Amino acid sequence: MCAADAGARVVAAGLRREHPPAIVAVDDVSLTIEPGEFVALTGPSGSGKTSLLALVGALDRPTAGTVEIDGAPPGRDLARYHREVVGFVFQHHHLLGHLSARDNVEIPLVGAGIGRAERRRRATALLKEVGLAHRLDVLGASLSGGERQRVAIARALANDPRLLLADEPTGALDSASASRVLDLLEDARLRRGMTLLVVSYDAAIAERADRVLHLRDGRIVPGGGPALGAAAQEAEG
Ligand SMILES: Nc1ncnc2c1ncn2[C@@H]1O[C@H](COP(=O)(O)OP(=O)(O)O)[C@@H](O)[C@H]1O
Ligand SMILES: [Mg+2]
Repeated sequence: MCAADAGARVVAAGLRREHPPAIVAVDDVSLTIEPGEFVALTGPSGSGKTSLLALVGALDRPTAGTVEIDGAPPGRDLARYHREVVGFVFQHHHLLGHLSARDNVEIPLVGAGIGRAERRRRATALLKEVGLAHRLDVLGASLSGGERQRVAIARALANDPRLLLADEPTGALDSASASRVLDLLEDARLRRGMTLLVVSYDAAIAERADRVLHLRDGRIVPGGGPALGAAAQEAEG
């Protein structure tokens, strides 16, 4: 399989997510993300970025509209979708502080029914991939913010997802750590050929993306390329 075959194709049509009585978090969003594409999603706070990501990741259900991943709705086999197809990286790492870096990365592999020795081998390789071969046995609580986010990326990659969804993955990091996390996401995408959808205010992410989508009031609005996206972010403060 060549790398480009490894990414999922995402098609959303007429997506809407209401929170009654008055909030429309996502308002008639249609988009297609090609296999292996890197799309950045920007927009002001409250514009619906997290809500849209949750719909694509099938963490939430739309009020109307559809999501299809490689031509099928993820809800058809939700457990398999979450276990084998999609990986998540959040702004806050959600590591278990009382477990080691390696044990944290092993968690999704336990869910996938992989035996202990193979789990350790894979978790070790993944932590090496994110530059943490020397931190395998350090507890989550003792890692720095940047290290935790790198462990979170290793964990998200554990089941070799074809689609990686990241919600402001560098939002809580200093610029050096943020740049490292960004490098890792991009390397992982290129090496695996996976599709990458990243919510971010970070102009550096928008600049590296193949395409930037700008959300406002739950809708995709024109506002174009990376430079425009970055400028819009600055203007919005
Ligand atoms: N569970 C919820 N209940 C009510 N309103 C929500 C809920 N989740 C999100 N919202 C609202 O939907 C809108 C979009 O939120 P969100 O997707 O978190 O935006 P963003 O990630 O761009 O900051 C906001 O007005 C937010 O308050
Ligand atoms: Mg958000």
